[in-house]
Amino acid sequence: MLSQEENELLTRTGADTPMGQLVRRYWLPALLSEELPEPDAAPMRVKLLGEPLVAFRRTDGRVGLVGEFCPHRGASLVLARNEENALRCIYHGWQIGCDGAVLDTPTEKPASNFKDRLHQTAYPTREAGGMVWTYMGPPETEPPFPQFPWNTVPAAHVYSVKVLQESNFVQGIEGGLDPIHVQFLHRQLDGSRLEQRNVALGGARDMPPDQFTLDTPYGFDSAAIRGHADPTRRYVRVTPFMMPWWTIVPYPVPEVGSGRGTHAHAWVPLDDEHCWVYYIHFDPYAPVDRGLIDSLFGWSSLLAPGFVKRANASNLYLQDREMMRTRNYSGIANAVLQDLAINETQGPVYDRRTEHLGTSDVAIITLRRRMLQAARSFMDGSDPMGLATDYAAVRGVALSMPTDIPWEQADAEFDRQVEARLAPA
Ligand code: FES
Ligand SMILES: [Fe+2]
Repeated sequence: MLSQEENELLTRTGADTPMGQLVRRYWLPALLSEELPEPDAAPMRVKLLGEPLVAFRRTDGRVGLVGEFCPHRGASLVLARNEENALRCIYHGWQIGCDGAVLDTPTEKPASNFKDRLHQTAYPTREAGGMVWTYMGPPETEPPFPQFPWNTVPAAHVYSVKVLQESNFVQGIEGGLDPIHVQFLHRQLDGSRLEQRNVALGGARDMPPDQFTLDTPYGFDSAAIRGHADPTRRYVRVTPFMMPWWTIVPYPVPEVGSGRGTHAHAWVPLDDEHCWVYYIHFDPYAPVDRGLIDSLFGWSSLLAPGFVKRANASNLYLQDREMMRTRNYSGIANAVLQDLAINETQGPVYDRRTEHLGTSDVAIITLRRRMLQAARSFMDGSDPMGLATDYAAVRGVALSMPTDIPWEQADAEFDRQVEARLAPA
């Protein structure tokens, strides 16, 4: 349960809010690279943290990201001509560069220096991991570009997808860090595929896990620990949360190198009532198999043009009561959709004053404590949490391990087991 004031601090990301100023201090995904396939093609609207922007691929292939409305009289630059590494407004021909400079005002006399006094909002961009990234904070505090594993592996090792979630971003993160819901929301009734997979991954019994969290400089690690058929072992899943909205789904040792990889998640606010959920499928050890991932996650049946959901709140997520009786617990066809549906039904901005958190909600409680701590210490003048992190070393791992090794050493044990698995026979 949070007070109204805490909930506002946690969930609001406008430029004039503490959390909004904090999240602007991190590099963040703005769009998928594939959304701008061609130089000099149509610009596209991009809303981020409540700000209306336009992205365009320049003549030289780089991506510009500028305020949507022309500094002259406010026409949308989504209609602009995209040429000469700049946007030219179709109303009166003013030309805007990707750094926000007004390069040409053909409606003024040639000798005029009017344009030199003007500036359009513009943010720097980088491309990595199949995404266009931007930094929306003050230029003087731009941090190093984050070396997340999916930003540094070869392109064939990453497959990034996104989908619109029609709710505040924080309830998405809460869902991503909740280890209990998997046994209910995502349960299969026809042979319990999930339980079979858990057993295959380490002999884990499908019961509520023991949960632990450990604060880290970037946020926290959350561990879910379950019993094992072999009493000298246990099944450990460690999920990191990295400020301001990243999680990495634990990578099970038996699946390393199988082509499905694992995935990272980000919930990036368009505004306070909508976020893009990025699924960044990646594998440090091998190329990922896009066809396999599409079939496992159902991306092509889930998505309509514009990365919105075909099944959505207006059609009750196409919940099917017959499916609910015979095939799965939720009656909703796809696990990605199950998560989106449930988070959206909590409301546009979930009101946390009326909830009742139980012992299973440890990770959710820790998430809020760390995010509120991050916002408050930032307001007090501290640097944003986690920016000095060696992101390449942060991992999500799932493995069975001897009970006498502390779960905090799961990363090292994971490395040992992966090395053994990948070693030539
Ligand atoms: S409104 Fe864009 S050039 Fe006039
Ligand atoms: Fe889920």
